[in-house]
Amino acid sequence: MSNDPSAEESARAGGMTSTQAVHAGEPRYRAHDSLTVPIVQTAVYTFRNCAALVDFLDERMFADEPLREEYGRYGNPTVRAVEAKLAALEGAQDAVLVSSGMAAVTATLLLLLSAGDHMILTDESYHTTRDFCARFLQRFGIECTLAPFGDYAALEAAIRPNTRLIFSESPTNPFMHCLDLSRFVDIARRHDLTTVVDATFATPANLRCLDYGVDLVIHSVTKYLAGHNDVMAGAVIGRYDLTTRLRQAHAMLGCIADPHAAYLILRGLKTLSLRVQRQNANGLAVARFLEDHPKVRRVWHLGLESHPDYTAAAATMRGYGGVVSFEIDGDGAAAHRFIDALNIPAIGPSLGGVESVVSPLALIGYANLSPEERAALGIRDELVRLCLGVEDAGDLLQDLAQALDAV
Ligand SMILES: Cc1ncc(COP(=O)(O)O)c(C=O)c1O
Repeated sequence: MSNDPSAEESARAGGMTSTQAVHAGEPRYRAHDSLTVPIVQTAVYTFRNCAALVDFLDERMFADEPLREEYGRYGNPTVRAVEAKLAALEGAQDAVLVSSGMAAVTATLLLLLSAGDHMILTDESYHTTRDFCARFLQRFGIECTLAPFGDYAALEAAIRPNTRLIFSESPTNPFMHCLDLSRFVDIARRHDLTTVVDATFATPANLRCLDYGVDLVIHSVTKYLAGHNDVMAGAVIGRYDLTTRLRQAHAMLGCIADPHAAYLILRGLKTLSLRVQRQNANGLAVARFLEDHPKVRRVWHLGLESHPDYTAAAATMRGYGGVVSFEIDGDGAAAHRFIDALNIPAIGPSLGGVESVVSPLALIGYANLSPEERAALGIRDELVRLCLGVEDAGDLLQDLAQALDAV
């Protein structure tokens, strides 16, 4: 691995390497001498005779690693290769791959919380996560307090004797606020709380939360990690003691990733470093261009010095990703004229894939909220989220320039 200079540079910076993205987690010699990890498309694994079954049960009691597979809901070799690669990229002991990012969030919280417990969620969180924590968990006697993102005194003040867990995203959507991970972890440790961070917007290519002492990191693998806008999955990554319990719960909850999805994720992960480097560069180029444009009122991107969390991000992140949020200097109709005039980004939700996607946020993601609720979250009609893919920056800038002319 030492003959790859970019890998060494990444390793010095304390992050994942491109070499790991290509090779980690995969056995050196694979079934049928295939270079790629095969898609093991089976629900059932068989035993040669009853003695083999008895041996399997005896040995399983003492094994740390799975000895072999038994049934599709308990494990699959293609899925396990993704899990091993994700664990390596995050510098973790283990990872559990599940069927979507929301499955990762809900399975983790259902595992770690019981009736009578309390959790804290920082308020700039994905709206479905917020609904699950603030409304759905109530049905099971679990309370959730929303703490204002970035207010560490309020976060600590929200802790109660029955608080078990603090959950946050970083960077946040759509305003890209960034946690001070050391402060976040310090507060949790002083109160003996488990920390969970949804780092979907960062990816391990830009930030490894576990290096700062976070207990579990969650990703919507649907986004950057799979990276091609063609598969849904989620992951929970961290220490064995937590992931083993999660794996057991997951066998009951049943939110498993399927082997075809796992294959696509494995293939996508091999280019994670390359894609994210390009998306970081595109994000920065577009953010700088928009910040200087007279028809743009305000831009949020962690690579801009004008972002309130620029310093915190610079201290912890190796790049700032491809999401740029901005307000057109006009009303919602002006934002729609701009969006409709774009030729490269497609209009839709989601982010992180190779194709650029643009979202008028009042109509996508926040459309179910009342205008007052949207205003409280800072979602104005003229707010646009641009999630950059891996197209050439020059082409993207040219497209943006001509679309802004249409405003
Ligand atoms: C930060 C974040 N977490 C979780 C999710 C949920 O992921 P999925 O759509 O894969 O269920 C999303 C989806 O947009 C997200 O943006």
